[in-house]
Amino acid sequence: MKRRQFIKIAGITAGLTGLSSSLMGCSSAPSIELIGRDNKQLNQDDIRLKVIAYAMLSPNPHNKQPWRIVMTGPKSFYLYVDMFRLLPATDPYHRQIHLGQGTFLESLSIAAHEFDHDADIQYFPEGMYGPEEIVEKPVAHITLLDSTRKNQSRFFDSLMRRQSIKTPYDNYQLTPKELKYIETLYNYDDFPLTFSSHPDTVHTIRRTLIEAMKIEDQGSDRVHETVSMFRFNDEELLKYQDGFGVVHSGITGIKKIVVEHVLLNRDKVEKDPSDFGKKAIELTEEQANSASSFGWMTSATNTRLDQVKAGRAYCKTHLILTQMGLAMHPMSQVLQEYADMLPLQKRFLEQLNVPKGHTMQMIFRVGHAESTAYTPRRQVQSLLKA
Ligand SMILES: Cc1cc2nc3c(=O)[nH]c(=O)nc-3n(C[C@H](O)[C@H](O)[C@H](O)COP(=O)(O)O)c2cc1C
Repeated sequence: MKRRQFIKIAGITAGLTGLSSSLMGCSSAPSIELIGRDNKQLNQDDIRLKVIAYAMLSPNPHNKQPWRIVMTGPKSFYLYVDMFRLLPATDPYHRQIHLGQGTFLESLSIAAHEFDHDADIQYFPEGMYGPEEIVEKPVAHITLLDSTRKNQSRFFDSLMRRQSIKTPYDNYQLTPKELKYIETLYNYDDFPLTFSSHPDTVHTIRRTLIEAMKIEDQGSDRVHETVSMFRFNDEELLKYQDGFGVVHSGITGIKKIVVEHVLLNRDKVEKDPSDFGKKAIELTEEQANSASSFGWMTSATNTRLDQVKAGRAYCKTHLILTQMGLAMHPMSQVLQEYADMLPLQKRFLEQLNVPKGHTMQMIFRVGHAESTAYTPRRQVQSLLKA
């Protein structure tokens, strides 16, 4: 499939003449593909660090990696939200940040199995806080129990391969057989998962996701929050080891060098993010219009525990689809809770027949696409704080 791109490259030859030879020689730079997934990071001697390093490969909002770990014993530790890694403009009540705690726990549990342990997870051991507040209390206490089952997880391979693929898809419609297969493996009954390829529904979803991105673009704090997590070049990826960048939109090779060094730069975009916002809308149009299968997950209540478990359910869904060779990508703008978004969100939930009062926790597109570079992860030790 021919990949279209986030940034349309005009005047590529003119741009190239301005490139210095040092930029052209980027091939000697450390591989950005391996930041946070190299052998040293993953082959930790300490089983706690080992499963945490794998858990860090889970999907999480804006690749913020909002996790903090406090060790409590030779095989046990607390998971906290890292209060310095929130997204207050687009996720004002930190719902998505809590989904990102659940994705971490799902991956952790799979990694524990792979390495002959069972992860015993006690949620909110010091009490749960409200869905609109955030308190310095652990989200979970995890104890790694020796497993006698020698139980390799059937999803471990998917855990290593999974990625949120943001390039255009191929308008694929999931077949009844595939839907049945997903249903068989999906084991989070409290978080109903719905898929649709019906043309009317697909049309409604596409239109809404694009409209939602336009609304997001109207808030300068929201755009700046995304810009702050956008990594404009490999140097930024290496330095911050979080976020996502040009290469994760499928732009590679010489075009990537041109985009990173000629067309996009942080100073310019931070001063005036209007072009960046326009590109985000164009990208959303390409993403939405190239998908003909969408999935969404709801919950009847929306406590912090629901959000964490919904994160687990989302991660599991993504792993199942990865195993099936399908690409998947969340498009969350319409679900965000800032005031400007609420009227569109309300209408959307009604159009998709979500029962009144229920929460849509995730919405995503599904299809086929080539894989892109993996997003980076920080070093596992950076999560450890006293
Ligand atoms: C709760 C949640 C919300 C997300 N929302 C979006 C989104 O709106 N748009 C998007 O491109 N990716 C979204 N993602 C995907 C993340 O950007 C992605 O997981 C992160 O950058 C790490 O990359 P990876 O999934 O390829 O490992 C979301 C992920 C989670 C867990």
